[in-house]
Amino acid sequence: MDTDEATTAASTAGERPSPDRDQETPRYLSGFGNEHSSEAVPGALPVGRNSPQRAPLGLYAEQLSGTAFTEPRAHNRRSWLYRLRPSAAHPPFHRIGNGSLRGAPFEETEPDPNRMRWDPMPEPPPGTDFVAGLWTLGGNGDTRLRSGMAIHLYHANSPMIDRVFGDADGELLLVPERGTLLLRTELGVLRASPGHMALIPRGVRFRVELPDGPARGYVCENHGQPFTLPELGPIGANGLANARDFLAPTAAYEEAGGPVEVVTKFCGRLWAAEYDHSPLDVVAWHGSHVPYLYDLRRFNVLGSISYDHPDPSIFTVLTSPSELPGQANVDFVVFAPRWLVGEDTFRPPYFHRNVMTEYMGLIEGAYDAKAEGFRPGGGSLHTMMSAHGPDRITFERASTAELRPERIDDGLAFMFETRWPVTLTALAADASHRQRRYDDVWQGLEQHFSPTRP
Ligand SMILES: [Fe+2]
Repeated sequence: MDTDEATTAASTAGERPSPDRDQETPRYLSGFGNEHSSEAVPGALPVGRNSPQRAPLGLYAEQLSGTAFTEPRAHNRRSWLYRLRPSAAHPPFHRIGNGSLRGAPFEETEPDPNRMRWDPMPEPPPGTDFVAGLWTLGGNGDTRLRSGMAIHLYHANSPMIDRVFGDADGELLLVPERGTLLLRTELGVLRASPGHMALIPRGVRFRVELPDGPARGYVCENHGQPFTLPELGPIGANGLANARDFLAPTAAYEEAGGPVEVVTKFCGRLWAAEYDHSPLDVVAWHGSHVPYLYDLRRFNVLGSISYDHPDPSIFTVLTSPSELPGQANVDFVVFAPRWLVGEDTFRPPYFHRNVMTEYMGLIEGAYDAKAEGFRPGGGSLHTMMSAHGPDRITFERASTAELRPERIDDGLAFMFETRWPVTLTALAADASHRQRRYDDVWQGLEQHFSPTRP
């Protein structure tokens, strides 16, 4: 069975076709945090045990753990993989160049209290694949302590050929902004287009192909606890990102021989080993340490139907908890199309200074707090306690607008919000596409105070 057949041949309870009708479209499993299971060949999954004396069909059984064995069930992530050859069959890894990829701890520049903004990444040289096209903006924490996060952008114009990537340092939350990513992972295929997010769990190997040509987007590398759905509290049992809208792949394998360069990011640096076969050779699997896809437009946006702009935590899609209740290692937040109906309310995001650090990106359109300068593919960084909010033009417009119900449907923005300040890489600090006069957007906010003014 070739790979394309395998992507559509799997048959598993709960499986359903993706919303796309493209023949190349992979089949998916629905749900978040499930004990999913899938087999590309009937009978490949052992029944009633994980590691029988001889796994079915001559396969090798291998467990991949994303959490410590003994973590509580609610947090535990692991999958059993049934594959042509065990991952252990490889020669030594050796260091390769990092390109523009950096890892935590970030110590190339001084932590900087200023607000910052970047234009989209420039075009990469021809032949740049996803791994070569990764460019690190900055981050916090320490890969060796499994804490903190890193912000990367990618810009690729070539598929990965005879090359597979895996990240030992954390899970990768991908936010495509331009072009589609066909993610051929050990557990199957995900097709992520602008408007989607895809997640590759820690250690899961994958190859990125570009079916629509060049691709650009954002990456949150989460070194901390795996992303999970936020608690809903008084919201109730439904709302925000609904679990059933998360899609896991179905098993798909390839029998390709080598050499295949398997690149791993380990404690911030890239290493590679030459495998004599493709490691994307998993015929069946079951478990909870799985890649997934989510359409950001399915987010059930909740907000005020009386007055005031809610705190942006109301827009949290996924959260990586820390040891402090409510203080995320990093949150992934989306600003999706929605209605604004607040009465006697300044409707765009208010002026604020936060302890948390916010990196914002724009997938398409415009963002309601910035009239100019924040472009799809660009990004802004508002660090711990930096003062920010609507720019002058937005403030003046929103302060005098007639407050009729208004639909915001011309933009899709997101935020990586993290507990610690983000320190820039030298690449990001010195980038030619960094905007040097970002502070100007708040110039001209005049004093209107008068003790006698109503
Ligand atoms: Fe903010």
